[in-house]
Amino acid sequence: WPFFAPTIKAINELKQVRNAVILGHNYMTPEIFHCVADIVGDSLQLAKVAAKTKAEVIVQGGVHFMAETSKLLSPEKIVLMPDMKAGCSLAASITGADIRLLRQRYPGRPVVAYVNTSADVKAEVDICCTSSNAVQVVESLGVPEVIFVPDQYLAKNVAAQTKVKIISWAGACEVHERFTAEELIRYREADPSIKIIAHPECPPEVVAVADYTGSTKGMIDWVKNELPGRVLLVTECSMADNVAAETKGVEFVRPCNLCPHMKRITLPKILDSLLYMRDEVVIDPAMAERARRSVERMVNLTM
Ligand code: 13P
Ligand code: SF4
Repeated sequence: WPFFAPTIKAINELKQVRNAVILGHNYMTPEIFHCVADIVGDSLQLAKVAAKTKAEVIVQGGVHFMAETSKLLSPEKIVLMPDMKAGCSLAASITGADIRLLRQRYPGRPVVAYVNTSADVKAEVDICCTSSNAVQVVESLGVPEVIFVPDQYLAKNVAAQTKVKIISWAGACEVHERFTAEELIRYREADPSIKIIAHPECPPEVVAVADYTGSTKGMIDWVKNELPGRVLLVTECSMADNVAAETKGVEFVRPCNLCPHMKRITLPKILDSLLYMRDEVVIDPAMAERARRSVERMVNLTM
């Protein structure tokens, strides 16, 4: 990416000066993913790295709830968001007060929160999960019924894989809910050899059409291992761009959908973030203490 070269160079130099690490979610654009991120991965991988890194500063290449998770697991570190407006439709769909109401309505049921939630929500729940460990987390509680928030589709996809009954919330990922089974079936009819790989935030009818469903890491690993001739990644657009560099010979078929929140993170904003040490993610310490427990329970379970 010659156009970006000076910004990439400046970011990589400033990282050393600041003793900073850049955590890049798999949905970052390729110039971030390949050229400045120190660690890339899915939500669970990034949470684990945030808990362990020796750097003094974490720059979150991802959305706000991910930066909060990093801060929860590394409270002594400075966690920077290149754009504070990088939110998430799932995280925006529920508050801590909603969890308290759910507990009143369904007393005695433990609450599992997808990591795509605010620290306010994490502080009210029993344990967190990501798309890669949701079934394991739900079953770890050893109860017949759990409340699972906020993704209604992930909840349904988890329910299909476990005997545990799931009470869900009505949230949805604005990127994954837009895919339909009909459009995927049309691609399959046009080319029966095509592989369709979906994220579990997609509606169950979409998952039913897929050859494999998993977290962003799971999807990347699947493509790298299977090296299909043609593959359709039913997820955010940058995934295919990022994997393509390491999977020569695989043709990535569109459609894909862009996440407007993830796309707020750009190289110039990462550079500004390191230059001016902004914007720092701050969480009320009492809330953080409770929210950290929910995230740590998950991380300890899936170490
Ligand atoms: P994972 O990377 O954990 O699969 O999550 C996908 C996602 O939508 C993050 O916002
Ligand atoms: Fe949220 Fe969906 Fe964007 Fe992920 S892809 S940050 S779940 S809106």
